[in-house]
Amino acid sequence: MPQPPPKFIPALGFKFLTPLYDLVMRLTIRELTFKRRLIEQMRLEKSHRVLDSGCGTATLTILIKKTYPEVEIIGLDIDPKILDIARLKVKKAGVDIKLDQGSAFELPYPDNFFDRVVSSLVIHHLTHENKARTFREVFRVLKPGGEMHIADFGKPQNVLMYLISRFLGLFEDTLDNIKGLLPEMFREAGFEEVEETTRYATVFGTLSLYRARKPG
Ligand SMILES: C[S@@+](CC[C@H](N)C(=O)[O-])C[C@H]1O[C@@H](n2cnc3c(N)ncnc32)[C@H](O)[C@@H]1O
Repeated sequence: MPQPPPKFIPALGFKFLTPLYDLVMRLTIRELTFKRRLIEQMRLEKSHRVLDSGCGTATLTILIKKTYPEVEIIGLDIDPKILDIARLKVKKAGVDIKLDQGSAFELPYPDNFFDRVVSSLVIHHLTHENKARTFREVFRVLKPGGEMHIADFGKPQNVLMYLISRFLGLFEDTLDNIKGLLPEMFREAGFEEVEETTRYATVFGTLSLYRARKPG
């Protein structure tokens, strides 16, 4: 029997808000600043194969392809509606990007397949168990020596960020993030050289960038 698709939290919490996602991102969060920084820390090479897991409207996916035209990049998202928006943007940008529908914690790719996996603002959408599954899946599909790069909410860096995070803490799935548990969860999945590289103060609380490496 075919399995029903797993439940997921849409980009802005409710399906009807998805068409507004890019506008909200542009107005509320320093999207291009942190996404450019994320790309910088990925240290991409021409021969690399990259997965953008939970690519949403593909803003980051397109930015990567435009910055490094030779890399092969795949965007994956669980939400078919947001992938429709991503497809239009990819077509408009005139870039060659494969977009797949699937789940971050059941990746439809073979072992040791990618040099880099990047994921931006996706982890706080997942339950504790599915976060752990996601990191194990990223570990599985990365080649030995490959790297995972994550941008997501992290431990508050000052009082204001702490106050905002108290509000975010009302959403259970964000608690692992704001308690600062992500680095330990990366290690539990097998990653080494785990590092929080940058923090940004945003209207949604502290946004942290992380890097972790699969041994090899
Ligand atoms: C806040 S948006 C971030 C989109 C994009 N990465 C960005 O930085 O703009 C979160 C995305 O995660 C996707 N998502 C949620 N659960 C997922 C899952 N289990 N597997 C893959 N994508 C998922 C949502 O559909 C949504 O597109």
